[in-house]
Amino acid sequence: MQHLETLFDITREDLQRVLATSAELKRRLARGERPAVLEHRVLALLFEKPSLRTRVSFEAGVAQLGGNSLFLGQDVGWGSRESVADFVRVLGQYVDAIVCRAKSHEAVRRLASYDAVPVINGLTDLSHPCQAIADVLTIREAFGDLAGRKLVFVGDGNNVARSLMLASAMLDMSFTLACPDGYEIDQAWCDRVREAYPKADLRRLRDPNEAVADADAIYTDVWTSMGQEAEQAERKEAFADYRVDEKLMKLAPKHARVLHCLPAIRGQEITDGVIDGPQSDIISQAGNRMHAQKGLLVWMLARDWVDQNVPE
Ligand code: CP
Ligand code: NVA
Repeated sequence: MQHLETLFDITREDLQRVLATSAELKRRLARGERPAVLEHRVLALLFEKPSLRTRVSFEAGVAQLGGNSLFLGQDVGWGSRESVADFVRVLGQYVDAIVCRAKSHEAVRRLASYDAVPVINGLTDLSHPCQAIADVLTIREAFGDLAGRKLVFVGDGNNVARSLMLASAMLDMSFTLACPDGYEIDQAWCDRVREAYPKADLRRLRDPNEAVADADAIYTDVWTSMGQEAEQAERKEAFADYRVDEKLMKLAPKHARVLHCLPAIRGQEITDGVIDGPQSDIISQAGNRMHAQKGLLVWMLARDWVDQNVPE
């Protein structure tokens, strides 16, 4: 059964098809077309952490495609009221897919392990694959292509950075993480990416100024992710020199685009001037969450439509 726990669950060709499907659906929406590709399909959203973009873009996206969504809160008792095996095997008889945002990646892995219904990771501590799909769609829109582009992530080697490292490897983009010592992407993930994509161009630099010098896209995210609140003070200190501000942008090429997954702490990891500046694609990037997830859902649940309607 096709799940999306991480982007390791799909091939580079699959990712290209998802991107092509997303772009096709986005073009159609711009023309006022909302093909009912997922008519009568039902998506469950099972979220343990807050969300604006992921939740609403999945709900709106599936509705535009003629389907329905159910947002499931604490009261359904996932992990507390009955065994996970019973929970997911019952839920799997009602819905066509589950999007799950969980505190621990293991919880999403466990839900998927029963193969009761396709499970899509809507963010865990380990990875955020739906975000990365929207991000590469945004970079492709800016440049018209992806291979050879240089993505520089300034900040924490977190869930978003891991997913972008892997997406970059899959799409022949170079990926650089500029971070302080101790905040690198874990070795186990780096080894997995290198094993799956031996030719990947992956770097880590300490100096953000050096890192952005030849960037095509500069990406940042919060210094303290959800669940790390106890480390906030030490992280603020560790990342003080890693703010994406006007000074850093002066060292980057003029053509470089700026991305942030949002929500942002304005004035901390990124300044107002950069978010709202001429090099920012941040708001349209958030809009692309919906287009990318529509592409993903159609690719997962209605492959015939992709084969018949999306040019190779
Ligand atoms: N970027 C992102 O996943 O946003 P939400 O936390 O609002 O879903
Ligand atoms: N790294 C952030 C991303 C939020 C979308 C977090 O996990 O909180």
